[in-house]
Amino acid sequence: MKNFTQFESLALGQELIDLAKSYKNDPRKDIGKGIGKRVGCIFLNPSLRTRVSTQIATQNLGMEAIVLNMDKEGWALEMKDGEVMNKGTVEHIKDAAGVLGTYFDVLAIRAFPTLTQKNEDTEDFVLNQFIRHSGIPIVSLESAIRHPLQSLADMITMKENTPSSKRPKVVLTWAPHIKAIPHAVANSFAEWASGMEYDLTITHPEGYELDEKFTKGATLEYDQSKALQGADFVYVKNWSSFNDYGKIHSTDPSWMLTEAHLSKAPDAKVMHCLPVRRNLELSDEILDSDRSLVQRQAENRIYAAQAVLSKIIG
Ligand code: CP
Repeated sequence: MKNFTQFESLALGQELIDLAKSYKNDPRKDIGKGIGKRVGCIFLNPSLRTRVSTQIATQNLGMEAIVLNMDKEGWALEMKDGEVMNKGTVEHIKDAAGVLGTYFDVLAIRAFPTLTQKNEDTEDFVLNQFIRHSGIPIVSLESAIRHPLQSLADMITMKENTPSSKRPKVVLTWAPHIKAIPHAVANSFAEWASGMEYDLTITHPEGYELDEKFTKGATLEYDQSKALQGADFVYVKNWSSFNDYGKIHSTDPSWMLTEAHLSKAPDAKVMHCLPVRRNLELSDEILDSDRSLVQRQAENRIYAAQAVLSKIIG
């Protein structure tokens, strides 16, 4: 595995889940594996979980992580080829990524979408510029269209909470929000849940259809209460419109999950990647109950990152 930017295969997904679970049992069992290796964690956007869990994962492998908050501490990067750089950008991605490629063994990149330039975002332009110009393995810490480390942690969490005999029903439900939110978590969760052969239903108001590239194999149900019937896992997430790119069409509070929504899914566990806006996206009632797996998901981010880095350094 050279880069980790998306779901690749059921076999690789299973291997990474098993490896992550083994690290969770014994976090420092491979402490010598990464001695002398450095990971550059480059953040073009804010983070809590991704930043800290990735650093802990590197420490568990004996690697060193250097974090650069590019949005606050680095030069403003020009991403487009052939530009006359006579405006706000100071350094070209060709030069910056080339330099970082000589400093590190692995580069981990967070680069959110613009939510205004649909073509640029859907081709994951910024992440691909780092891949193109750094010459070293790249791990996505959330790109314009995917958040694979989050999804791997989500798959580990579902596996830990599933009886071995069962093929669980998984529901990805849209939730209200006041801001235009990227599609990356929802896209990636759909891609991984279908890829790992879960029975996936996606529910959202009309106009919030995700890019079909990520939803193959899933059932689409616009009626949230029908979708939730018999669910084993409910993944709650807001995203903005994809078709009317980056726009908010609804903030309907009736989509926020409460106990009443789960009357026909009495055993459902509820998931969210965090950060969550309480009582807007998801109720206190659910988040503070035994149904909630959100803390387990966040904890598993460490072992997801550790498994990925371990596999990349070989
Ligand atoms: N879930 C997640 O990626 O959290 P952060 O944005 O805090 O890293």
